[in-house]
Amino acid sequence: MSSTVPSGSQTLLVCAVDELPPGQVRKVDAERPIAVFNVDGVFYAIDDTCSHADASLSEGDLEGHLVECPWHVSRFDLRTGRPCSLPASKPVRTHAVEIRDGNVVVLVGTAPQLADGGARNVS
Ligand code: FES
Repeated sequence: MSSTVPSGSQTLLVCAVDELPPGQVRKVDAERPIAVFNVDGVFYAIDDTCSHADASLSEGDLEGHLVECPWHVSRFDLRTGRPCSLPASKPVRTHAVEIRDGNVVVLVGTAPQLADGGARNVS
């Protein structure tokens, strides 16, 4: 599969698709760490650092499309990055995810292409 990486974005290789099964998350170290989630076979990427303080969202509980911050339990929607409960009031960034040659790849700084913000493994 070929795709064009928009200028200004950073491409991050996360892992093989098989290494991130449904219900799991993987944190990727980058200038700003990224959390990549598999929700029923659809991959979502958001900033790992909670917008309220410095908690790592990849350490939170995942329920459907929502991840709960491990520190003060704000819940964020992986599809939009928006918080659904206080104390967080600002969204976290969402990033496009692609499946390339069986690998999960994040285009940091690029808005998700699918309406629901995720990427599916169609191979
Ligand atoms: S650090 Fe996430 S809600 Fe406070």
